[in-house]
Amino acid sequence: MSETTSVIDVCVAGTGSYVPDYVLTNDELATRVDTTDEWIVTRTGIKERRIAAANEFTSHMAAKAARRALEQAGLSAENIELIIIATITADTPTPATACHVQQQLGAFSAVAFDISAACSGFLYAMKIAKRLISSGTFSNALIIGAEKLSSVTNWEDRSTCVLFGDGAGAAVLRRSEPGEGSIVASEWGTDGRLAHLLEIPGGGSACPITSANVNDHLHTLFMQGKEVFKIAVNRMKEAAEKVIVRAGWKPEDIVCVIPHQANLRIIEAIADRLAVPNERVFINLHKYGNTSAAAVAIALDEANRSGAFKRGDRIVLVAFGAGLTWAAAAIQW
Ligand code: ACO
Repeated sequence: MSETTSVIDVCVAGTGSYVPDYVLTNDELATRVDTTDEWIVTRTGIKERRIAAANEFTSHMAAKAARRALEQAGLSAENIELIIIATITADTPTPATACHVQQQLGAFSAVAFDISAACSGFLYAMKIAKRLISSGTFSNALIIGAEKLSSVTNWEDRSTCVLFGDGAGAAVLRRSEPGEGSIVASEWGTDGRLAHLLEIPGGGSACPITSANVNDHLHTLFMQGKEVFKIAVNRMKEAAEKVIVRAGWKPEDIVCVIPHQANLRIIEAIADRLAVPNERVFINLHKYGNTSAAAVAIALDEANRSGAFKRGDRIVLVAFGAGLTWAAAAIQW
């Protein structure tokens, strides 16, 4: 079953992901700021995260994840028609990181641009690409969530630096052939009244980079964690419920839920409220922390490659992030 306005069904033909080699453990972090492995694990579920090298940019991670997704989809880069990168840590303010990725992949037939929707970005990209394919504008798309959050982390602030990590995930979308799966329903939302809860205040036109601003860490992520936590649970639950209802599914039909990987307590609260058993919820947060737009994309690839679902299974992706933004998708694989 397709969304009512869709003309052409769209499937996920391949997924890929990449994380940097360097593993930053909670114990190592505890040597830098006043924290403990026990506090981080109990409050967040995170045990370690990956940190990109100084010369490894968001575009490099994105291109590596993309190559893996293209390989699985059996498509070559020159045949890709659209590249959308979701990121809040672009290589440079301009041009878009998608332009660098187009160049690195040799995907010169593709229109390429970035979107900024923080942790919801990959699912925003999925919805945009799906619409552009189902309307006939493109026949395929490469969507990527990629972040180098270590470049916007205040490594002196224990309340945020324990949360974030680097990485990238990608998916190739294309028109479905008869008998193939499809993205059945999707949902997105934004509440700019809550923008102040989670932001990087400096580095843009409102607060250009100066040495004083950098000394005040204004180029790094600030978050009111408790407020974000409560809203995250409610918005993700509502978004997931909407796509499940629109798809005509019941919670017991869902083989795998892939939520944004920010906090284990948030994930467990959502599973509980959706009445989906914990063993059907995919979690890799302990290995990577919160990689913002990359999180759902990396988790989708790991779930796919580890056999957490198979062709024909019903899965739900759901995310939440700065903006505030939220999004969900129901996919028949
Ligand atoms: N180690 C030890 N103690 C700490 C640490 C730390 N790393 N960080 C904070 N604390 C202390 C605080 O100072 C506070 O101490 P106090 O009671 O003496 O004042 C105490 O621990 C409790 O702090 P809280 O912030 O209230 O802890 P909470 O249980 O709310 O957990 C957390 C914080 C993990 C950030 C949680 O609120 C959370 O996960 N929020 C949601 C984050 C999220 O989902 N973000 C989504 C999007 S991210 C994006 O878009 C990029």
